Amino acid sequence: MSDLTLEYGNMLAPALGGAGLDPDRLDGELAERFQGAREAFEERREGGELGFLDLPYAADTLERVEKAADGFGQWFENVVVLGIGGSALGTRTLAEALLPPLWNEGAGEDRDHFPRLYVLDNPDPRSLVALLERVEPGRTLFDVVSKSGSTAETMAQYLVVEGWLRGELGEAEARGHLLFTTGAEGGGLQRLADALGIPTLPIPENVGGRYSVLSPVGLFPAAAVGIDVRALLAGAAAMEERCRASELRDNPAGLLAVLLHAADRDAGAGIHVLMPYGDRLRTLGLWFQQLWAESLGKVTEGEGEGVHVGPTPLAALGTTDQHSLLQLFMEGPRDKVVCFVAETSPEEDVEIPDLHPGVEATGYLGGHTLGRLLDAERTATTEALRRTGRMSLTLELERIDARGLGELFMLLQIATVLAGGLYGVNPLDQPGVELGKNLTYGLLGREGHDAPSAGTDGARWRV
Ligand code: PA5
Repeated sequence: MSDLTLEYGNMLAPALGGAGLDPDRLDGELAERFQGAREAFEERREGGELGFLDLPYAADTLERVEKAADGFGQWFENVVVLGIGGSALGTRTLAEALLPPLWNEGAGEDRDHFPRLYVLDNPDPRSLVALLERVEPGRTLFDVVSKSGSTAETMAQYLVVEGWLRGELGEAEARGHLLFTTGAEGGGLQRLADALGIPTLPIPENVGGRYSVLSPVGLFPAAAVGIDVRALLAGAAAMEERCRASELRDNPAGLLAVLLHAADRDAGAGIHVLMPYGDRLRTLGLWFQQLWAESLGKVTEGEGEGVHVGPTPLAALGTTDQHSLLQLFMEGPRDKVVCFVAETSPEEDVEIPDLHPGVEATGYLGGHTLGRLLDAERTATTEALRRTGRMSLTLELERIDARGLGELFMLLQIATVLAGGLYGVNPLDQPGVELGKNLTYGLLGREGHDAPSAGTDGARWRV
């Protein structure tokens, strides 16, 4: 059984003084919409398109990943992931949520001699140079992650790294510091791996980049640094089972998708904010942002085709953004839903000492804990939003551990595919992203790709 709860009373009219959705619709029209989306989901499942649903049960892949991580990955002092988008954000989320803070800054014994973990996504020369100056080549493994095996940013970083490794270690030894995680068939990385004898880990064909965190994309780096990947997958499996429920009210992914879609379509609230409380889920917001935006920002297909749709996801962090974005959420346009993520019993907490009991500004804090403060701030913010008639939801977990994160990943991925059905778009493709990639290839002279024409010249303001 999964541990996650979804609190959605603050989406509904009774809590919001009329501003929310009519709760009766959950048993009528919204339940019907859900059934339509579920049918589309099941068709995709049966058609073999939803490979991410199978990942929690892929025992052979897990064995292969663990073997590579134990015998090979953990031999190194540093594991560096080179990848972008779905090939980076899941790993960043895993590391931030499940490794102790400042992991890379600790000495070997602080990390139980597991490697440091770096993720380089943006091909910013400053970041790459700084990293290469920091790590010892002979003690560093580069995991080049690309489903297509051809994304320019990742290929460019890989080439720089291989050149550096060759210069430092010689051509033959350089290869022993590379691992390619890539789509099995036909991609450039796979061909290079075959030619150069570089080990590979597979990304299944039917698992898209932003749905790949539970494939070797996220599993290998996680296992290499000692994260309990079995618990992660067990959490994902529990959630996958729970989201098979055919009744809307029993299906957490269905509820999430239907409520957020209805908020957008029927109440004009098309900005969907994911706001975890606590630093360890900061990157989860970015991971969700990619998943929701790249899957749902599309042109509709089928009945009613040709309409540009899609909610705008926004990553926020509690309490930090209470001192930034919250003013807009509270009094700006009524176009947002805030989805809080809460941890109710954090493993680590710190008591606030009662140092100045007589001082009004500090006295009331003494004896509480920092965890209690975070939770009180979240409760207060939820209530403040409610009082101003603003919609919110809360995903609550007792603990953010590997299992809980596995549940969250699976919940949000299933909700995204269901939301695709509700919006009438294909949540698995990304034609807009591909166009940008192809134009970049053209600009840099890749064969078979046109360079864009310099269409903005006439409109450039020169000073
Ligand atoms: O979700 C997606 O498909 C994209 O964001 C990709 O993950 C991203 O473009 C990187 O692609 P690739 O893994 O093929 O290098």
